[in-house]
Amino acid sequence: MELTERRKRALGPAYELFYETPAHLVRGQGVWLWDADGRKYLDCYNNVASVGHCHPDVVAALAGQAATLNTHTRYLHENVIELSEKIASKMPGDLSVCMFVCTGTEANDLATRIARTVTGHKGMLASEFSYHGNSTLVYTLSTADSDERPDWLALFEAPCSYHLAFEGKNLLDGYVGSVRNAIGDLQNRGQQPAAIIIDSIFDCPGTIEAPPGYFPQVFKTVRDAGGLVIVDEVQAGYCRTGNHWWGFQHDSAVPDIVTLGKPMGGGHPLAGVVTTPDIAARFAASSDYFNTFGGNPVSAAVGKAVIDVIDAEGVLENVTRVGAHTRAGLQQLKNQYDIIGDVRGRGLFLSVELVKDRDSKVPAASTARKMADLMKDEGVLISTHGRYENTLKIRPPMVFSKENADQLLAALDVCLGRL
Ligand SMILES: Cc1ncc(COP(=O)(O)O)c(C=O)c1O
Repeated sequence: MELTERRKRALGPAYELFYETPAHLVRGQGVWLWDADGRKYLDCYNNVASVGHCHPDVVAALAGQAATLNTHTRYLHENVIELSEKIASKMPGDLSVCMFVCTGTEANDLATRIARTVTGHKGMLASEFSYHGNSTLVYTLSTADSDERPDWLALFEAPCSYHLAFEGKNLLDGYVGSVRNAIGDLQNRGQQPAAIIIDSIFDCPGTIEAPPGYFPQVFKTVRDAGGLVIVDEVQAGYCRTGNHWWGFQHDSAVPDIVTLGKPMGGGHPLAGVVTTPDIAARFAASSDYFNTFGGNPVSAAVGKAVIDVIDAEGVLENVTRVGAHTRAGLQQLKNQYDIIGDVRGRGLFLSVELVKDRDSKVPAASTARKMADLMKDEGVLISTHGRYENTLKIRPPMVFSKENADQLLAALDVCLGRL
């Protein structure tokens, strides 16, 4: 039986596959992937392989610890403590306590539980068209997918400067006002905010960067209403946006809780919640915490190795430099091709929005899907996303070089020319 059909039978139809002809990948190294026919692809999509596919130091850390001991966090072990200390050393302010889980979903679930316990409130604020994970609780906060709108949830608009959600207001006032209105909605229903959960770059609607001043004003607005600030760094964290380790550091405000995931284990399932000693103590006063797999000695060894590779190989500087080069190249393509309505993002977290007409901004969703297929034929893997499904998503492993970026840009040029 053909693999796609066999997979559908074995896993059920809820699982999606990318591309008209799905990719059957069998090997990865650095920024490269190979399929079962031996065809080589430049990976411009996979952010989980943060320091490159199968990085030898990460593989060695995993194999070495797996061959020595793997248990859980109810015994003393240096690895989990050292991992926490390494993460804390990358965080600003008082964010120095880490709790470990296995997925971004669990991180956001635990962060919500902490915020509710500490504030005594139940209300949550989430952005329109967001994705934060797939547990029953967190899926409800994932407003791009879930239709459920319980009375404890109120939504605000992500601060998009391309598709404006407001008329006649300045960007900052309009979008901070949207958060204020969401708090008002909660209060009208008799709910108080436990927290806002907010991406530092809003990925799901199409990689939206907040305007300067947005985060400080939003954080203050939520805190004035008695809520905490959870920043979801599951995609944007770990240097992905360039210049800083964390996406929220592009502005001056510091969150109360930060959630981490995807890039943290370089391919291994490792995620976490970072908060302040004060919040951690207030949570522990009424709740204890255990996670069978989260922070085990093998996962923690992997997590430490990823951070060491980032530091040793100058990955942050690479993202900053190659990200700027890539974005400039995308901007250049925008000058050549009218179908490109907008280029967005920071570092190596980039998006290209395709529109049928620049004035009307009518989304070119089917063309975006076609572009992903054409790019695959050119040996470059990207994908699509966005509120209108018309945005090309570019998010390669962070060891992406200028040469790799030039290959991506040349392939985009060829494929745009073929439309
Ligand atoms: C911003 C963000 N938060 C949370 C998650 C959930 O992470 P996981 O799939 O590891 O549960 C995702 C996954 O796509 C994400 O993009």
